[in-house]
Amino acid sequence: MEEQIKAMRQKIEAAAAAITDSKEMYQLRKQYLDNKAGQISALMKNMRDLAPEERPAFGKIVNELKTWALDFFTAQDARLKAAELAKKNAAEQIDVTMPAPVRSCGALHPNTLIANELIGIFSGMGFEIYEGPEIETDYYNFTALNTPQDHPARDMQDTFYVSPELLLRTQTSSGQIRYMKGDDKTPKHEPPIKILSPGKVFRSDDDATHSPMFSQMEGLVVDKGITLCDLQGMLDEFARNVFGEGVKTRLRPSYFPFTEPSVEVDVSCFECGGKGCRLCKDTGWIEVLGAGMVNRKVLENCGIDPDVYTGFAFGMGIERIAMLKYGIPNIKMLFESDVRVLSQFHE
Ligand code: PHE
Repeated sequence: MEEQIKAMRQKIEAAAAAITDSKEMYQLRKQYLDNKAGQISALMKNMRDLAPEERPAFGKIVNELKTWALDFFTAQDARLKAAELAKKNAAEQIDVTMPAPVRSCGALHPNTLIANELIGIFSGMGFEIYEGPEIETDYYNFTALNTPQDHPARDMQDTFYVSPELLLRTQTSSGQIRYMKGDDKTPKHEPPIKILSPGKVFRSDDDATHSPMFSQMEGLVVDKGITLCDLQGMLDEFARNVFGEGVKTRLRPSYFPFTEPSVEVDVSCFECGGKGCRLCKDTGWIEVLGAGMVNRKVLENCGIDPDVYTGFAFGMGIERIAMLKYGIPNIKMLFESDVRVLSQFHE
């Protein structure tokens, strides 16, 4: 009998030693300790076959075995569960010192940077923002700006026509008329007028410095006693802010149907200080925008008396300013969305 018990213990120990999983261990425990089908419980049932005097001794041995087995399996279970927990913890460990994956941060487009900068400068001088539509009528884009049908100046601004009367605006100057004269959404405005009108414009133009779609920033000031000196004074302020302190401006005679007199505005070269370099093509000056005194005809077209009020207007290309300021050689680089280019510009 003792032998049989000893053999069973050894069998249990051997079987347990081969088990590494707590669920399997539970199955083994059931094999021996299950109340109905367990092998140790079965031994107890054998007691009936014994002589009554043998029963107490037998019962004692089997009970000892049962107590041993209970302790044994409890210990095994604790051992395996501890190992399993350790393994799980190791697998779920977070290395807080590990560098996080880099998520690069977007930046504003150079055009937006320049537009924001200009809006900042001009709103500091009291300009109000007015935005006109990109699809424009022939009237607002040309005729009211003193550029009637068949005017030769239309040639320079050939564009995309939606219908004979509707076109993609060639200049933000159309906003001057919409603001002064009014339209279905905008009330007519009386002087004093001081607006800045940013937006996209379209022309049949395509080379390294011209694109069929580009952006302009228009300025318009109308009041009593406005002169060309006011224009230049304000442009000096703009040039110093955008291109640097020592930069000067120069006005050259030019022609636009809607301004009289008209000027091209140059800034002294901020690269060489005016001595002459590649950027200014050895002239010391860089052309940045067109401007002039608002033509009497334009004021009349908008119901403003040109004998009482005068004004100036200017219009600049945002891409052109961006290219000059950031040294961008080709305007197409501003529209290709190449991150290698765009990631170089930050506020
Ligand atoms: N609209 C002109 C252009 O696109 C620029 C300009 C604006 C000139 C205002 C004079 C006054 O070339």
